[in-house]
Amino acid sequence: MAIFVIGVLFKVWKYAMTPAPLKIPQTPAPVGAGGVPVRVLSEVVIFKSLFKSNRVLWLAGYLFHAGLLLALLKHFRFFFPAVPAGFGYLDTLEFYPGLIMLAGLGLLFLMRLVVDRHMFISVMTDYFLLLLLIAIATTGTFAKHFFRVDITQVKEFMMGLIAFKPVDMPTQVMFIIHFSLVLLLLAYFPFSKLMHAAGLFFSPTRNQVDNPREKRLVTPWAVEKPEAIPVAEEAMEAST
Ligand code: HEM
Repeated sequence: MAIFVIGVLFKVWKYAMTPAPLKIPQTPAPVGAGGVPVRVLSEVVIFKSLFKSNRVLWLAGYLFHAGLLLALLKHFRFFFPAVPAGFGYLDTLEFYPGLIMLAGLGLLFLMRLVVDRHMFISVMTDYFLLLLLIAIATTGTFAKHFFRVDITQVKEFMMGLIAFKPVDMPTQVMFIIHFSLVLLLLAYFPFSKLMHAAGLFFSPTRNQVDNPREKRLVTPWAVEKPEAIPVAEEAMEAST
């Protein structure tokens, strides 16, 4: 958890400090600042760019992320003393979140195997991540339906960890495998492409306003070294 939290914060800090010296919003882009949150939200909620570019990949990715979201919301009962209001009904979804996740992951994996263009750009870690997620979803679904785990024990265990007062771990083997794989995923997260979850918000092609004519973009180093770019100061004055 420490690797996960510190690693993610460090990466986010690095993203925030990385200069975006060029005006590169991918058009059509919002022409006013108010449109940017709408655009970014459309990427987060409906994966808009992916939908426009590849429907099969969109479906696979969307199924996986939707299943993941539902499964994680269902897990809230392990991390809070009482099930948060409005979350109880998620139990009626039974094992479907896990299955939806697995359907998406299976399709993503298959595409890397059978579509040439996908296979060509695939590297070992792409397969590793998909297999790790498939293993987590499978062991979770098994822990729920075939090798019943005592969820009151799981809750006590998790609450103990959260309070830094650990109690004995549930001994159910499927849970131990599920939990260990999750820890592996969390430790690997900051070093992997899973960081796209945060990176999306820092993507200049998505978060910039399309106003290069109205407001010239001047990079900080152009202001610091105006002799390097003679027009920089002039442009700064014009834009302020
Ligand atoms: C500390 C973290 C986690 C703990 C303690 C945990 C524990 C559990 C337990 C006990 C179950 C069985 C649920 C039941 O019997 O009702 C389960 C199911 C499941 N888990 Fe986890 N899990 C964790 C994190 C994750 C993560 C990060 C993922 C996905 C990447 C995940 C995916 C699933 C799935 C798909 C199921 C299937 C059951 C369902 O549809 O609700 N789990 N988990």
